[in-house]
Amino acid sequence: MRINQLIERLERERTLEREELIELLSPSLPGEAAAMLRQKAREVTDRVFGNRVRIRGLIEVTNVCRNNCYYCGLRKSNRTLRRYTLTPDRILECCAKGYDAGFRTFVLQGGENPAMTRRDVVEIVESIKRDYPDVAVTLSLGEWERDDYAAFRQAGADRYLLRHETRDSGHYSRLHPPEMSLTHRLQCLEWLKETGFQTGTGIMVGAPGQTAANIATDLLYMAGLKPEMIGIGPFIPNGSTPFAGEKSGSVELTIRLISMLRLMFPGANIPATTALATLSPGRGRVEGLLAGANVVMPNLSPPEVRADYALYDNKAAWGIEAAEGISRLADELRRAGLEITKEKGDFENV
Ligand code: 5AD
Ligand code: SF4
Repeated sequence: MRINQLIERLERERTLEREELIELLSPSLPGEAAAMLRQKAREVTDRVFGNRVRIRGLIEVTNVCRNNCYYCGLRKSNRTLRRYTLTPDRILECCAKGYDAGFRTFVLQGGENPAMTRRDVVEIVESIKRDYPDVAVTLSLGEWERDDYAAFRQAGADRYLLRHETRDSGHYSRLHPPEMSLTHRLQCLEWLKETGFQTGTGIMVGAPGQTAANIATDLLYMAGLKPEMIGIGPFIPNGSTPFAGEKSGSVELTIRLISMLRLMFPGANIPATTALATLSPGRGRVEGLLAGANVVMPNLSPPEVRADYALYDNKAAWGIEAAEGISRLADELRRAGLEITKEKGDFENV
């Protein structure tokens, strides 16, 4: 069967022609082909990581953002949100709690808060690294200039997440206001690579206006960038954004893409995202892990601000999604034959 051969070639050659990628992304892909993709991706994951799932403690440091992305609840024009910025002391308290629970990676994620300076970021990274020399610090703080990234790296930050969101400029302008630039975002990703970060990128699946051809473009772009981490989750509308009335992305397609990405990037750290767990409660996370993901990112933010980090509606931040729920998460994973590993989990080329 031709489709089976495509999947085998994707595994062997780690890429395909654009038209072939589009074929695998088709809504009419036969169920057996989707199952084969999942199975091959799980085999590769198992070969590289065994049944071990890496955990990262997510600290949402600020929900203030100067940007106005049409999809995101943190956009500056959203007046319904109570805005917060964690002080360094509170961030360190989150780390203390996380360290005790076994986390060895802290992800500091936030909007592009104009009040947060390069110095602020450098100081918090230095404090974390001073108190916990054996952890990795991942930043996810949006677009900066090259010198800023170099300073963050110098301060000890190890990894940086910046989803490119879409590699197609027409689609980019459907998702972002005119003052935002795809060129600058891609430039940032180059700088992150150059300054020595383990660099993560990714997209939302089913974002308004997205086509299979767009996703193929994203995959080919990533094949060139060689990211060490890839974050993908379904688009979920937020009622306080211009995309309030849009449909959510497909869970099935998100899972299929996780599998394709695993075959393309065997060693990459690929999380089963909160968005996937939100759209498919009780199943999404494990399905993602069984289809090629190898990371979960429980929420370590102070409970009283969690509801304010509202990227999309009904975002999961409690129970198994929360760092406090780690023993229940471990149980859920164990039932699926997986186990949590507390190792730092740096990228290794395979
Ligand atoms: N649905 C799903 N993901 C979203 N993000 C922002 N808004 C949404 C939404 N409505 C994702 C973006 C961003 C990351 C922090 O969250 O991809 O990069
Ligand atoms: Fe700000 Fe990021 Fe949300 Fe865009 S996606 S509004 S940059 S927090």
